[in-house]
Amino acid sequence: MSSTNPGGAAGPHPIVVGNWKMNGLKTALTEAVKVKDGLPAAGAPVDVMICPPATLVLVLAEVLKGSHVRVGGQDCHAAASGAFTGDVAAGMLLDGGASAVILGHSERRAGHGERDWDVRAKVVTAHAAGLTAIVCVGETAGERAAGLTETVVRRQLAGSLPDGITAANTIVAYEPVWAIGTGLTPTTGDVAAVHAAIHSALGERYGKDAGGVRLLYGGSVKPSNARELLGVPHVHGALVGGASLTAADFLGIIKAYDAAG
Ligand code: 13P
Repeated sequence: MSSTNPGGAAGPHPIVVGNWKMNGLKTALTEAVKVKDGLPAAGAPVDVMICPPATLVLVLAEVLKGSHVRVGGQDCHAAASGAFTGDVAAGMLLDGGASAVILGHSERRAGHGERDWDVRAKVVTAHAAGLTAIVCVGETAGERAAGLTETVVRRQLAGSLPDGITAANTIVAYEPVWAIGTGLTPTTGDVAAVHAAIHSALGERYGKDAGGVRLLYGGSVKPSNARELLGVPHVHGALVGGASLTAADFLGIIKAYDAAG
């Protein structure tokens, strides 16, 4: 499967993923319906996914059934089931209609103490359940200032990804921690350098199997900067937080892939 990004380079088919984080009551479903209705009937030139809070996965999947918008979860437990009060199993997300799950988001790494090996265990469980894992990596402001960006990202990739990943079961999202929710973004040159490093790290470990793994950029993506950021080589889409909460902004980002947009 190959497509063209806004910069014109051929590569894996892009995907724009909305991460609603801990936002969204039932009333938010109307925004998802607007996204669905705002896409061309023949399908957008990109894959589109919304990852709502766990409470909305089932109902969102019902609302979006038959559309081009897929549904994902935001986290899952490393165990398939059991006595883990308050946690969500990968199989439950699948059962609810999700086809993917975000894992290792920096908010989980920072707020819940998730380490690379925790993330890797979750990725293995997600794959076993039949979900695509969207695995997040990214440096803090301090790590960037210390010149450690690529070292940190390579270390996170090495520790968070299991052996044998494929383009079908894994997506990698580069989300610089300092760019999340701040309105700050790296330069396109910085994004290009990190994505090239991710591309080569995956190639070194997985060989040609990694060639089709989609690499997303995340962190303060908006309609106004989407075309520039998503046109960077080795960027195959976006993981969008705040701007995914309103259909107009989310559709504005998806339109970065519309030749007429
Ligand atoms: P923002 O788009 O709000 O910066 O969030 C990015 C993010 O963390 C997506 O997972």
